[in-house]
Amino acid sequence: MQFTLTEEQEMTRIAARDFAQKELLPGVIERDEKQIFPAEQIKKLGALGFLGMMTDPQYGGGGMDTISYVLVMEELSKIDASTSVVVSVNNSLVCFALEKYGTEEQKQKYLVPLARGEKIGAFCLSEPGSGSDATRQQTTAIDQGDYYLLNGTKNWITNGGTASTYLVFAQSDPSRGHKGINAFIVEKGMEGFSIGPKENKMGIRASDTHSLHFSDVKVPKANRLGEEGAGFHYAMKTLEGGRIGIAAQALGIASGAFELAATYVKQRQAFGKPLSDHQAIRFKLADMATGIEAARLLCLKAASLKDQGKSYKTAGSMAKLFASEVAMAVTVEAVQIHGGYGYVKEYHVERLMRDAKITQIYEGTSEIQKIIISREILK
Ligand code: CAA
Repeated sequence: MQFTLTEEQEMTRIAARDFAQKELLPGVIERDEKQIFPAEQIKKLGALGFLGMMTDPQYGGGGMDTISYVLVMEELSKIDASTSVVVSVNNSLVCFALEKYGTEEQKQKYLVPLARGEKIGAFCLSEPGSGSDATRQQTTAIDQGDYYLLNGTKNWITNGGTASTYLVFAQSDPSRGHKGINAFIVEKGMEGFSIGPKENKMGIRASDTHSLHFSDVKVPKANRLGEEGAGFHYAMKTLEGGRIGIAAQALGIASGAFELAATYVKQRQAFGKPLSDHQAIRFKLADMATGIEAARLLCLKAASLKDQGKSYKTAGSMAKLFASEVAMAVTVEAVQIHGGYGYVKEYHVERLMRDAKITQIYEGTSEIQKIIISREILK
C-alpha cells in the first residue's frame, strides 16, 4: 500500500490549488451573495482540462485518473464549492455516462464538447416527488416510433440553466418498474423544453440550480443512451462515481475551513495569549484534523479502487457519508473558533458551513449511503 502521490498527481493538485487561489478566491463572497454563476472561471477550468479530466483523450478529455480528480475537487472546494460542483457533475456524472454508455456518434456529438469544457452538462434524475426514491420516476418518455415523447418535471438540477446537454431519466413502461426507465440526451432549445427560475439556495449559491419542464418534447430515438430499459441501472452506476466527487468536495470544504481556523488561532489573542495556546482550541483542531485525514483516506481509497477497475460502490458511499459529516462538523467548529468573526461573510467560514450541508443531501442523502453500505455488508 502506497501513501504517496505520483509526480503528475502532485502537479495536478498544485495546478488546482493555484487556480483556486488566483481565480476562485477573488469574488467568491460576491458570487455567493448575488448568486452569480462562475462562467469565466468555468471557461478557464475547461481550458485547463478539468471539466473532462477522466475522459479518454480521443474524446477531448484529459485521460487522468480518479485520484487526480479527488485532488482537484478537494483543492477547488477549499475555496469555492459552487464552482467545484459544476466540475463534479460535468466530469463524473455526464461525461462518465456518455463515455461508458454512449454510441460513437453520441460521443463525437455530445461528449467531445463537454469533455473539452466548451459546453456544460446536467444530470436530471430527481423529481418533485422522487429524490431518494429514484425508481419512482413520474417523467414519461413514450415510444412513438422515430422518437420518444417526453413529459414531466425534474427538480434541483445542477447546471440547470447553463447546461447545453441534459441527461434525462424517464419512465417508458411503468408496468416494468425500474426496468422501464430510459436515459436520454436532451438538448437545450428542443421544442417543449423549458427551464424554471433559479433556486435561491442556502449554500453553493453561485451554482445554477433549476427545475426543468418537458412538455411533449420529441426526443429522437438516436438520443436514447444505451439499451432500452437500462436507464436506472446507468443512473445508479454513474452515481457510484459521482459520490467520490462529492466526497472530495466535502473533504475540500472541511479542509478549507480547517486551514482558515488554524491560521486564525495563531493571530487572535484571548486572555493574554493566542487562541492556539488554549487547550480547548487545540483539542478542537486535533479532532478536526483527524476527521479530515480519515475522510481524505476514504476518498483516495474509493478513487484508487475505481482506478484499479475494482468495485468502488461501498467505498464511494462510505467516503461520501463520512466526508460530508466531517465537512458539517468541521465547518461548524471553524465558525465557533472564529467567534463573532465567524458569523460574518468576510471570514469565509460561514459560507463553507452553509456549503457543507448540501454534501449530506445531494447524490444521495447520508441515509441513502447507509442503505447502500448496509445492503452491501449484508449481501
Ligand atoms: N449499479 C447498478 N445497478 C444498481 C445499483 C448500482 N449501484 N444500485 C441498484 N441497482 C439496480 C438493482 O440491481 C436493481 O436492479 P435489478 O432489479 O435488475 O436487480 C435496481 O437497480 C433497483 O435497485 P434497488 O432494488 O436497490 O432499488 P431501491 O429502490 O431499493 O433503492 C437506491 C435504490 C440505492 C435507494 C437508489 O434509489 C438511490 O441511490 N437513490 C438516491 C438517488 C440519488 O442519489 N439521487 C441523486 C440525484 S443526482 C444529483 O444530486 C446530482 C447533482 O445535481 C449534484
